[in-house]
Amino acid sequence: MKMEKVAFYYFSGTGNTLLVVEKMEETFKKNGVNVELHRIEESDPEKVNLQHTLGLAFPVAGLSTYPFVWEFIESLPPANGTPVFMVDTLAGYSGGMVGPLHDKLKKKGYNPMGACEIIMPSNIFYIQSDENRSKIIEKGMKEAEKYAQVLSDGKAKWGSFPVLPHMLNTLSRSFMKSWEWKSQQKWFGFKANASKCNQCGICAQICPLNNIEMNEYPEYKFKCQFCMRCVSFCPQKAIPCKVNYKGNTHRAVKVKELLSN
Ligand SMILES: Cc1cc2nc3c(=O)[nH]c(=O)nc-3n(C[C@H](O)[C@H](O)[C@H](O)COP(=O)(O)O)c2cc1C
Repeated sequence: MKMEKVAFYYFSGTGNTLLVVEKMEETFKKNGVNVELHRIEESDPEKVNLQHTLGLAFPVAGLSTYPFVWEFIESLPPANGTPVFMVDTLAGYSGGMVGPLHDKLKKKGYNPMGACEIIMPSNIFYIQSDENRSKIIEKGMKEAEKYAQVLSDGKAKWGSFPVLPHMLNTLSRSFMKSWEWKSQQKWFGFKANASKCNQCGICAQICPLNNIEMNEYPEYKFKCQFCMRCVSFCPQKAIPCKVNYKGNTHRAVKVKELLSN
């Protein structure tokens, strides 16, 4: 069946997933498919239009995805055959998001039509060199274009899902849900460095969970899911992340682009 309109819901912490979504949007449009982009963090899952093809895009996190993304998916309304596709971006290994997501959507009455996982630069632990990140992005963009073309042609597949990734994903989802910000704070070390912070408030503005309050300096509350936005987009590099090698950061777009759709 030909796609006519896609309601494309995405979350992107540091811009990788956004680049993939924009490349897919461009390809869909070339194929005469209308696309509406929606940021997951600002969307009500119950208001998703079931008359359109549903697209879901998100980063892999902890061999799963961020709990608030998974909650969005779990809160989607029951459907009667609405076609749905997914794309995730990852640095290397997803642990198998694809299978559990297929089952969840199928159970809700959606028609899973395609799944794709696209390697993009890592935004945590080891940040690759500028040259390597550009190469990875270039390859990722080609894959995104190809995937959107296959979806437009109605030839995409949702792939197979062995048992081990299912188990890994279930375990990591419960692990991610139980992450306690307080106990992880010392591990990640998010806390604005007062000697570098110029109190611009960008971190508070872009946090998808409204977890940062601007008092004299940014103050973290207890809902962080470690998407790296505040760390990566701070213009002063004032928010250190202890788990990143040499404190390096990655961002794939400018902050304006992150908020432009
Ligand atoms: C907290 C956290 C956990 C991550 N876990 C994984 C993982 O399990 N597997 C993986 O391949 N990449 C992992 N990554 C890397 C991201 O999935 C990858 O860089 C992604 O493209 C980031 O997308 P974004 O820029 O749209 O946020 C993780 C990143 C973060 C911040």
